[in-house]
Amino acid sequence: MTNVLLLENPHAVAAEFLESHGMTVRSIPGSLDEDELIAALDGVQLLGIRSKTEVTARVIANSPSLGAIGAFCIGTNQIATSFAAERGIAVFNAPYSNTRSVVELAIGEIIALTRRLTVKNSMLHRGVWDKSSFNAHEVRGRTLGIIGYGNIGTQLSVLAEALGMTVIFYDIQEKLALGNARRADSMQEVLSQADVVSIHVNGLESNRDLIGAEELTQMKPGAVLVNLSRGFTVNVDALKDALESGHVTGAAVDVFPEEPKGNGDTFDSKLQGMDNVILTPHIGGSTLEAQRDIGAFVAGKLTDFWELGNTSMSVNFPNLALPRTPMSAGRLCFAHHNIPGVMAQLNEVFAAQSVNVEGQGLATAGSMGYATTDVGTPLNANTVEQIRNLKACIGVRYIPFSGLDQSGPRR
Ligand SMILES: NC(=O)c1ccc[n+]([C@@H]2O[C@H](COP(=O)([O-])OP(=O)(O)OC[C@H]3O[C@@H](n4cnc5c(N)ncnc54)[C@H](O)[C@@H]3O)[C@@H](O)[C@H]2O)c1
Repeated sequence: MTNVLLLENPHAVAAEFLESHGMTVRSIPGSLDEDELIAALDGVQLLGIRSKTEVTARVIANSPSLGAIGAFCIGTNQIATSFAAERGIAVFNAPYSNTRSVVELAIGEIIALTRRLTVKNSMLHRGVWDKSSFNAHEVRGRTLGIIGYGNIGTQLSVLAEALGMTVIFYDIQEKLALGNARRADSMQEVLSQADVVSIHVNGLESNRDLIGAEELTQMKPGAVLVNLSRGFTVNVDALKDALESGHVTGAAVDVFPEEPKGNGDTFDSKLQGMDNVILTPHIGGSTLEAQRDIGAFVAGKLTDFWELGNTSMSVNFPNLALPRTPMSAGRLCFAHHNIPGVMAQLNEVFAAQSVNVEGQGLATAGSMGYATTDVGTPLNANTVEQIRNLKACIGVRYIPFSGLDQSGPRR
């Protein structure tokens, strides 16, 4: 029997999917502290969390039955991923499931700012009727500058072009320009040409204050700024100055240098109270659609790992995903130190036991290797034990294709 512990209420599709694969799911609505988590993980093979549960090295070291962790969110900073890999525990997340939600919010805000909707809205709430078209534009024909052309930046590029915008982008990596988008040679080139600048860089420490006073000055007079990436990428004081001076005519900010921990907590920002600023509480990815997609995606990854040993898109294991070899009796999953001769040693064990290898795959990443071997006859406990005793072994798990019983991961 495979036991799953789900914390922090991932979307219901996750539990439904895991249960449909014969697993027993226990759900706890909130997060648990270290000791509570260790106690709750007794006899649990698969753990699902969101961003609030800290899965520390101590939790992992004291949870011998644990085989994999699914983060039903984007980030995995809350998990000791390297330590988990050293213990043969794979970690999965959902890096793309909320991309579309972020992009749709960006599009909505780009239109709202370009059309000066927030200003008109505030004025009318104050009882002031102002029909003037001053500084109100269609987005069609205007230039969108995207800084950071990754998952979100590229999808924004496609949707913005569909609205008739001209897209230029800058990325520190070589990126394929989609559609008619044009790659700029520098961030400054984007800043100086764009009517809308939208920031979608990742969380590199070097991106702290990426947009400060100097960069805001380099923006076209009258341009607007959208930041749905990380709070520390835009210097809030400098942005406030640029907005007050009128050089930047509007901003939409979803992420902040310091964010409250929970719903209902107090939030303070120098940008509060400005009619031309849209403030949202880090909700770029917070849609029911994204939550459902995350639930289905991570549950699928956990199941695929547990039933087939596949590690495709794991954040801490070499990525390997092979279909089951026809007629094979089971699959042996072997996480190991990536040192010369280890695969030969593994196959020597099979040969000595007259086990035919029907299919085999190997992936390595740095000091870690991961191999799956489909065997022609069921493995007995002795063979699995011999592999477990190989010096290079980090973790071994045998998945019989005829039933659900598995020998658990090695500590
Ligand atoms: N607001 C939200 O709720 C929300 C939701 C999801 C993601 N995000 C954030 O959005 C950002 C983008 O996410 P993603 O999935 O597209 O990430 P990604 O890793 O796919 O893309 C980031 C891109 O930025 C580029 N980059 C990094 N530093 C740069 C720089 N200084 N100049 C130019 N390019 C730079 C990288 O090369 C990469 O192509 C991340 O910071 C992520 O945390 C926010």
